[in-house]
Amino acid sequence: MCGIVGYIGNRDAYPILIKGLQRLEYRGYDSAGVAMLNKAGDLNVYKRKGKVSELVAFAKDKDLGGTVGIGHTRWATHGEPNDVNSHPHYSQSKNLVLIHNGIIENYASIKEGLKKRNHEFLSQTDTEVLVHLIEHVQVHENMKLGHAVQAALKQVIGAYAIVVMDKNDPDTIVAAKKGSPMVIGIGEGDFFIASDASPIVEYTKNVVYLDDEQVAVIRRGQELKIRNLKDKEITPYVHKLTIELESIEKGGYDHFMLKEIYEQPRSVMDSMRGRLNAHEGEIKMGGIVDHEKKFEKAKRIIFVACGTSWHAGLVGEYLFEELARVPVEVEYASEFRYRNPIIYPDDIVIAISQSGETADTLAAIELAKSKGATVLGVCNVVGSSIARATHGGSYTHAGPEIGVASTKAFTAQVTVLTLMALHMAKVRGTVSETRYRQLLYEMEAIPSKIEEVLKLNDKLREIAYTYKDSRNALYLGRGVSFPVALEGALKLKEISYIHAEGYPAAEMKHGPIALIDEEMPVFVIATKGANYEKVVSNIQEVKARKGKITAVVTSGDKEVKEMADYAIEIPQTDELLVPLIAVIPLQLLSYHIAVMRGCNVDQPRNLAKSVTVE
Ligand code: G6P
Repeated sequence: MCGIVGYIGNRDAYPILIKGLQRLEYRGYDSAGVAMLNKAGDLNVYKRKGKVSELVAFAKDKDLGGTVGIGHTRWATHGEPNDVNSHPHYSQSKNLVLIHNGIIENYASIKEGLKKRNHEFLSQTDTEVLVHLIEHVQVHENMKLGHAVQAALKQVIGAYAIVVMDKNDPDTIVAAKKGSPMVIGIGEGDFFIASDASPIVEYTKNVVYLDDEQVAVIRRGQELKIRNLKDKEITPYVHKLTIELESIEKGGYDHFMLKEIYEQPRSVMDSMRGRLNAHEGEIKMGGIVDHEKKFEKAKRIIFVACGTSWHAGLVGEYLFEELARVPVEVEYASEFRYRNPIIYPDDIVIAISQSGETADTLAAIELAKSKGATVLGVCNVVGSSIARATHGGSYTHAGPEIGVASTKAFTAQVTVLTLMALHMAKVRGTVSETRYRQLLYEMEAIPSKIEEVLKLNDKLREIAYTYKDSRNALYLGRGVSFPVALEGALKLKEISYIHAEGYPAAEMKHGPIALIDEEMPVFVIATKGANYEKVVSNIQEVKARKGKITAVVTSGDKEVKEMADYAIEIPQTDELLVPLIAVIPLQLLSYHIAVMRGCNVDQPRNLAKSVTVE
């Protein structure tokens, strides 16, 4: 949800800002804008509806000078995505400019107050109100920018990550955050500010993560100063970034999504590395070791998550119930937080999030903590807000995921949840040694089985071609493959805009069967296992109504292969681990269909990768 960048130092700010915005574009692409303060003291603002590339084309012939500047890529909340509502926004006198990620909830009342003092607003945004408020405080209280920001933010309810520049103070920029992420990179005599580390890593590995209600006053060539809203000085803690530049570039692939699909053998392996040792029959997970007693005693596990991460939670439900014999609930974070849910101190709440920044998931965590539950995180982004807000947990180590449609993060989440479930089962004594060992060996073999599935890419492209003009699609699965059906449908609808639904195969006859005709593609996960015969019957029900079946089957399958229009054979594995392999062909099918339809695969319309508003 909105990406922000800033730079102050000795280099030209504009190219740094634009490159940073391109790296952050996954966070929103409704509009983009920059502001630079040039040598002559002019504060130039350029902003445009649409992608960063449109801003670049627009700004081409303009004055782009300046060694201090800020930039923003927007996912619209207040006000439609147009040039006027784009960031940066000016203050009343046009001396200040500000960029903002988040929502100012009480902006309407602040706006009314400022209007009475003759402030005039050009846009419909909450952001413009904030920059006017800062200037009002600065002028009326005769404060420097840093203190004015502090004082103004005390009046604000909501979430923000902001960066402000003052025309009259060209050697300073001020950044502050609450609820939305903000990282400051410390270079040699210069500073880089961004919503995440991806725009920074190219220049420096030394970063400071701002905490909520902290304000950073960043002065050219001086030390970074951080204060909280109560004016207490905070000593910055410098982290070393571990991500590498290559991991956030396309590396020869046409799209990030395709690259990330192909990275899965490695990302699954990395999520197990140092944790699983099948030979020794061991699972070691440093981030949960302190909570083992809780695992032993837990009466219930509650997963909270959104989107694809919620689907990973559904897979987790099957794993934890089957292996650790503990009741599981899987909650949409957005519903959970507003429902006055019943949470006991002996519940374990597991928050799953790729970005570690999803606002609803973060709020659900705070709620669970306030009721005394143990809260663990399964996050991909190291140092993210959710990783820091939880009592413990495990990172997924999938590496940066840039494509808006989540792929490798899902399989990494399922990998970590599988390890957690197996570990909990062992601690609780609910799994036999033989089954435990067998599953550990099966887990170790998953990366090479994913490798096998990726070899089916050409065949999947051919199948995609036959379905590229479909208007609807149905995905069916049973048991642990039901969440895979949901995930397959989500992948298709989010990147190709074909309406798709995932359904438990047997439920089909209670509704979706009415939609089936010769036009309707039906994707079924029909791998060998306890439900196989039942799924075969469901396939027959579809065939009887002339539906087109594409089935994901276990290698060597004959029965379904004969019935299906297309069969995709995947390697045999333990039934509980099928999601890790079966989801791969569905990701590739969606990818190819979207490409053939001319859709923007990495940045689908209206979506954003990191949803930091509720
Ligand atoms: C957005 C993204 C999805 C993601 C969901 C949850 O909708 O487009 O890909 O699954 O947010 O995000 P999280 O970072 O919490 O996993």
